[in-house]
Amino acid sequence: MTSDRTPARLKSNRYFGGYNQQALVRNGHMQGLGFPDGLLRSGKPLIGIADSQSELNPCNAHLGAIAEAVKRGVWEAGGVPVTFPTISLGEPNMLPTTMLFRNLMSMDVEETIRANPIDGVVLLGGCDKTTPAQLMGAASVNLPTIMVTGGPMLTSRYRGRTMGTGTDARKMADDVRAGRMPPEEFFAAEGCYARSAGHCMVMGTASAMASVAEALGMQLPGTSSIPAPDATRKQAAHRAGRRIVEMVHEDLRMSKILTRGAFENAIKVSAALSGSTNAVLHLLALAGRAEADLALDDFDHWMRDVPWLVNVRPAGEYYMEEFHFAGGLPVVMRRLGEMLATDALTVSGATVKENVADAECFDDEVIRPIDRALGVGTGTAVLRGNLAPDGAVIKQAAASPRLMRHRGRAVVFDTIQECESRIHDPDLAIDENSVLVVRNCGPRGYPGMPEVANLPIPRKLLERGIDDMVRISDARMSGTAYGTVVLHVSPESAAGGPLGLVRTGDEIALDVPARTVSLMVDEEELERRRAELRPRARRFPRGYVRLYEDHVLQAHQGADFDFLVGRGDAEPHGGDPYLPPDDENALVRQSYRARDDRVTG
Ligand code: FES
Repeated sequence: MTSDRTPARLKSNRYFGGYNQQALVRNGHMQGLGFPDGLLRSGKPLIGIADSQSELNPCNAHLGAIAEAVKRGVWEAGGVPVTFPTISLGEPNMLPTTMLFRNLMSMDVEETIRANPIDGVVLLGGCDKTTPAQLMGAASVNLPTIMVTGGPMLTSRYRGRTMGTGTDARKMADDVRAGRMPPEEFFAAEGCYARSAGHCMVMGTASAMASVAEALGMQLPGTSSIPAPDATRKQAAHRAGRRIVEMVHEDLRMSKILTRGAFENAIKVSAALSGSTNAVLHLLALAGRAEADLALDDFDHWMRDVPWLVNVRPAGEYYMEEFHFAGGLPVVMRRLGEMLATDALTVSGATVKENVADAECFDDEVIRPIDRALGVGTGTAVLRGNLAPDGAVIKQAAASPRLMRHRGRAVVFDTIQECESRIHDPDLAIDENSVLVVRNCGPRGYPGMPEVANLPIPRKLLERGIDDMVRISDARMSGTAYGTVVLHVSPESAAGGPLGLVRTGDEIALDVPARTVSLMVDEEELERRRAELRPRARRFPRGYVRLYEDHVLQAHQGADFDFLVGRGDAEPHGGDPYLPPDDENALVRQSYRARDDRVTG
């Protein structure tokens, strides 16, 4: 890769160079922070470290220490690091759903990078939405960028058995409801739930998105699965700090990495991991920002022949820690071999093929060889039909094989609150063949598309040992959830989609092998019902939520804002009115160099 070490090319040099008043103000303020005079005029790249650390987001609360390690690497390579905070989106605490704020966080990241004198970016994320939001925001600026995720927690233990975040909480809640677990045990389990810093340690959305970031080529190879408290995570962060400085010199921008081939790799790797359906939304939105050609049907097409290799919960048996020590993502990518676009370039400066050439597996139970795959083509399937004209998805590995072809009578709830209040009513007319439908939970409907698609199983059925039913909605589902759940139905009911036409008692046919989901009601009757639909009144008259309702795209388009699709550029809006001429910058650098030579002899 060619190297361009011309300081004049650097954005920071234009901000800090020259003799004008603004140069004095900018340099003076940074010297007020303790940066020595001349440093920011020296032509060293200024590296912004986007830190989503927050105590309101426990999964990202340790990122400050990761940022320190990145800084050491940046200094070592001859750059100047500066951290800046970004919005942080914590799954456990935010309501109604972090997804409502993913686009807001991406805007924060985008505009902060663009407005400031940053030459290269290190993104620090972890919890589910923070990783895609940072990638989306940075892709819209298109500077040299590298991602360092915070890593998974250590595996938790409770009463002698391992416990996975998300997945086990759901199981325990079901057990308490069904009378299989005393409430005191439930409370005791809370204390063992999150054993260390880091994001969820199963292959939920956070682990899947960290892996996807590596598969896209945006993280250094083998680093996404390093447990959060492990010293090698800081070492990896240090290496990322070193590498981003080189990337600036090489002018290796995100647009050179986020190609269609990179998305193909991310999608195929996601299938091999049995990763979260949330990756579908985030990758579609990211591709929109990166101007890479990607559509919902590509997921089905690319995932169909991919073997499921990674035996990690919720679909498998093990945890992220074991996955990491088995060899992590490079092993998976090496085993997928020529199924991938192996010539795709990555942040390491090498191709995927070069990155994974020496990857070695240390546990074939955790990362299965191709001839002992856990399944083939078990990734996310894309369904269509009169119930989802623009598509819906189902995570096949989390579904029950007996329900993959199913016909049943709909039991419809207009809101998730209605579902919660009625689902356990002993008088509710429902059996194990019923199809649960909940609507008004899509991007516009809720708003923000919450993770409620895996509707609870009615208590009276749980008590009979029924633990799965077909469920359909325009909502999302947590990456740690399981069940035969058709989700992301598009267009959503709040946007006039046919989910809004379903009535309790209608027959619904699901045929996953044929990729269809159909409402068995004749078109004439549907037309009659459509004519009776009334447009929804505006629910949120002000603020960000109003902007969201007005501009969010549908699930099959990644639920990004319509006005954010496409790439912007790296320069401040309207340019820099204080831009010093290039020759003045060169003079300033010369005089500092002469002074430094005098000082150092
Ligand atoms: Fe943050 Fe699971 S709650 S990653």
